[in-house]
Amino acid sequence: MKILTVVGARPQFIKAAVISRAILQHNQSGHSTPIEEEILHTGQHYDPAMSQAFFDQMEIPEPVINLNIGSGLHGQVTGAMLAGIEQEILKRRPDWVVVFGDTNSTLAGALAAAKLHVPIAHVESGMRSFSRKMPEEINRILTDHIADLLFCSSEAARDQLAREGITQGVHLVGDVMFDAVLFYRDRAIVPDRGEQYALASLHRAENTDDPIRLEKILGAMGQSPVPVRLPLHPRTRKMIDQGSIALSDNVTAMEPLPYLSMLGHLQEAAFVITDSGGLQKEAYFYGKRCITVREQTEWTELVTAGVNRVVGADAAAIRAAFDWALQPLNDLPELYGRGDAGLRIVRRLAEKTG
Ligand code: UD1
Repeated sequence: MKILTVVGARPQFIKAAVISRAILQHNQSGHSTPIEEEILHTGQHYDPAMSQAFFDQMEIPEPVINLNIGSGLHGQVTGAMLAGIEQEILKRRPDWVVVFGDTNSTLAGALAAAKLHVPIAHVESGMRSFSRKMPEEINRILTDHIADLLFCSSEAARDQLAREGITQGVHLVGDVMFDAVLFYRDRAIVPDRGEQYALASLHRAENTDDPIRLEKILGAMGQSPVPVRLPLHPRTRKMIDQGSIALSDNVTAMEPLPYLSMLGHLQEAAFVITDSGGLQKEAYFYGKRCITVREQTEWTELVTAGVNRVVGADAAAIRAAFDWALQPLNDLPELYGRGDAGLRIVRRLAEKTG
């Protein structure tokens, strides 16, 4: 049985690392349906710090092909990916195409497979922000509605799919990013101990592409009671430079961090400020509170559990969350499975084919 795994953006490399490792384990167990995996990289992320560093650190098998699509308008890049992935599916003839999350690479992979009648497995299915202004929301909805196997991280995701009439092929398996933290945390590269700090990240279009909003969020970060370390996505850096936005002395901009350094920084952080989906979950895995600078989150169970506050770009609300964020967290509920999501996904794929 052969699968084609489609990746392109940074968070997808983390998720693919878990699946590739689970495939290795599955094959070594002597299962009657061994799996051959080929990884296709669309090239959506291409800076070494955004891509190759993850393959190296996480020991992800090298992609059999990189389409080198790069950046551009959404239609332009998604269309180029669609055409490129279609050719690869025709050439490689996989039994399944596996896609992750909600990026343009996710949608292109799913759509290319659907047109060629190759079944699709969608990992991290059923997430919704209910804001169709976000490109990710469109990518998720469309991918879920053409997928054959839908792997959910949480009960809320499964329930959402049911509300949209999707009940066939849905499996609640837990979150592959939890598997990743459990596997890699012993290898975390911890920053030099010293001052307390908050770990921040900012890259969503709704924040970076609106200079007023961007300035408000960065300004509020500057008022944090502990210094803020901000590894910068290249798009955010570009927008800060273009808008000539001055960072407060309290905020240290850094190069994007590879996975193991990000884990190390999380381990030592007092709390997290982010608009990333993945980092909201990783904060929780490390027992840190998270201030989410968006209008809504897909990871609503974190809010219900009291570990995540969604504050938008409102400077007063961000400042008001700092004291809350500094309080320690105990007795976290088990929200995203047991750390075996990757294996459960791989077993289900083998069962469906075998
Ligand atoms: C994409 C995903 C987003 C995900 C994020 C993870 C979509 C619509 N968005 O957002 O869901 O959370 O990845 O990081 O798919 N750039 C570089 N070097 C790179 C990559 C990007 O300089 O290696 C710059 C370019 O200026 C580019 C911009 O970042 O135009 C945006 O990149 P893009 O891939 O469109 O979206 P992300 O913001 O990275």
